[in-house]
Amino acid sequence: MAAIKAAVAVAEVAAILVLLLGVAAADDGMTKFKVFFHDVVGGLNPTAIRVAQAASTNGSSTSFGAVVAIDDPLTSTSASGSAGEVGRAQGTYTFADQRTFGLLMNMNFVFTAGEHNGSTLTIFGRNEVLSQVREMSIVGGSGKFRMARGYVEARTADSGLSTGETVVEYTIFVKTP
Ligand SMILES: *[C@@H]1O[C@H](CO)[C@@H](O)[C@H](O)[C@H]1NC(C)=O
Ligand SMILES: *[C@@H]1O[C@H](CO)[C@@H](O)[C@H](O)[C@H]1NC(C)=O
Repeated sequence: MAAIKAAVAVAEVAAILVLLLGVAAADDGMTKFKVFFHDVVGGLNPTAIRVAQAASTNGSSTSFGAVVAIDDPLTSTSASGSAGEVGRAQGTYTFADQRTFGLLMNMNFVFTAGEHNGSTLTIFGRNEVLSQVREMSIVGGSGKFRMARGYVEARTADSGLSTGETVVEYTIFVKTP
């Protein structure tokens, strides 16, 4: 009996070790950090401007067909505005879904301060804005992020319905060769 119990205990410890090693291997070389994205569509100094749309876009409940150009502050805190700016999110998003608010994001995160200053990350993916967590691809980068691969998770921190400034927390998981 005691021998069987000891064998089971050894097997359990081995299984736990395999799990721990597996998790460590999955994290290998992955850098993880957060930035807050500020999309200002209203007021005197918008950072997101609608640059194109179809004649039928006004009749669409999901703004299908509209294209927005952005130069949005990326900051280290969720506070409104560009205090603590570490970079800009530059590019476009397209309202690409006829049934829900589904954006095609096509943008560079351009770091201008902090530990990633001088480097960029290129992000491309689907952003279904009413979902709690949206995953998008990191398809490349420059500087310290040259040849980068990875993904981001976007979570809305403030929908901006009353302020015209949407704040989104981006958690970045990135790896370089
Ligand atoms: C859509 O609506 C906006 C705001 O009401 C208006 O300025 C624009 O001219 C309209 N566009 C079309 C194509 O009807
Ligand atoms: C970011 O890097 C540039 C170029 O090296 C440098 O001129 C600038 O002072 C840096 N900015 C900050 C806030 O570190």
